[in-house]
Amino acid sequence: GFEVVASRSGKTVQVAEGQTIVDALAGVGIKVEISCEQGVCGTCLCDVLEGEPDHRDVYLTDDEKAANDQILVCCSRAKSKKLVLDI
Ligand code: FES
Repeated sequence: GFEVVASRSGKTVQVAEGQTIVDALAGVGIKVEISCEQGVCGTCLCDVLEGEPDHRDVYLTDDEKAANDQILVCCSRAKSKKLVLDI
């Protein structure tokens, strides 16, 4: 697993294996708008302030993925131990 910090509230959540970032955030009352839940539509796009995403979507371009400053939280995960998101 890894840790996600929701910077606007300062809340930190652990994302377990087999759990999505969206699910983990919902557990502490942070709702992210979602639609496809498969990394296709772009609805759940969040800005990344710190950390390295493990991109699992097909929405961002390769360049956007390499920039590591956006993530689709319905399906993508983290390569770093911690991700700080602008949510
Ligand atoms: Fe569609 Fe995340 S909900 S990309």
